[in-house]
This record gives sequence, structure tokens and C-alpha cells, in this order.
Amino acid sequence: MSDGPDGTRTLLVVHHTPSPPTREILEAVLAGANDPEITGVTVRAVPALGATVPDVLAADGYLFGTTANFGYMSGALKHFFDTVYYPCLDAVAGRPYGLWVHGNNDTAGAVASVRKLVVGLGLTQAAGDVEITGPIDAGVRERCYELGATVAVTVAGEL
Ligand SMILES: Cc1cc2nc3c(=O)[nH]c(=O)nc-3n(C[C@H](O)[C@H](O)[C@H](O)COP(=O)(O)O)c2cc1C
Repeated sequence: MSDGPDGTRTLLVVHHTPSPPTREILEAVLAGANDPEITGVTVRAVPALGATVPDVLAADGYLFGTTANFGYMSGALKHFFDTVYYPCLDAVAGRPYGLWVHGNNDTAGAVASVRKLVVGLGLTQAAGDVEITGPIDAGVRERCYELGATVAVTVAGEL
């Protein structure tokens, strides 16, 4: 746990965003997390391949975003969890998280794969998983906005 320079809490967004549709999702999630009515939270978005142990330890809550790849989370998010799992085990227990998954037609395996990791880390689910297939329309953007806002509010509430 750490406070930012102005005493705010940090929400770390770890994402794999390889295409324009997934970029739209990320932007909607970040818009929700940065909703101007939510105060006291600094939102940091970091690509999964660049997120580090210090990033995780310094955060107060997490949003994870991934594509579905071969029935699992993306290799990029898997690499992230491979990197941070043991160094962060125990330190992050109880912190809130949220998850979104985008796939062409089947996100269940990817969601299950992430769930094993967050359960192992002892994170607390702050919002329902957002599973997205098909085009990114207004309804999808709304669900993603709500996901970002809900997790950010939860992080703020821990002040
Ligand atoms: C190697 C590979 C494996 C994939 N496996 C799955 C899968 O198991 N389930 C699924 O729903 N989509 C799968 N997809 C589709 C991706 O999830 C999708 O391309 C990604 O979310 C980005 O969306 P976009 O292609 O519309 O930009 C796969 C894509 C690739 C390239």
C-alpha cells in the first residue's frame, strides 16, 4: 500500500491491448476509473509486458484486462502474473480488483485462468467480471466504464 505524492491511493491497470477494439475497451475503463466524481485515486495504466513488482506493491487496487487466447488469458498477462506472483504473495492480500476479457467467441477459459491467480494472491473482487465478445458498441463501453468506476470507488473507499 502506498499513497501518491498528494496522499491519494493508486489504482493500477494492467492490460494487454493489441488492437483498436481492445483500445476502445481500455479507454472506456480508464474513463470510468477517472470519473471526475471519484476523488483520491490516481489511475496508472501499464501494459502487461511492462508492469513490474514495484508497480504492484505500490498500488492499492488493480484492474486486469486481457484478450482471450487459446482459451486462456493472453501470454502477456500470463507473463505479468508469472513475474509478480511470488514476489507479491502475501503483500497484496485483500486488495480489490476487477477484470475484463475480450474475445471473438469464448472468454470463459480466460476468465477462469485469471481467477486462479487472483484467488491465489488473495485479492478481493470489487466488480463483476466484464466479458466482451462481438463489436464494441455503446453498451460495451458503458459496462467498461462502470467497471473502471466501481473499482476506483472501491480503492478510494479504502482511504
Ligand atoms: C492466437 C489467438 C488465439 C485466440 N484465441 C481466442 C479464444 O480462445 N477465444 C476467443 O474468444 N477469442 C480468441 N481469439 C481472439 C482474440 O481474443 C481477439 O482477436 C482479441 O480479443 C482482439 O480482438 P480484435 O481481434 O477484435 O481486435 C484469439 C486470437 C488469437 C490471435
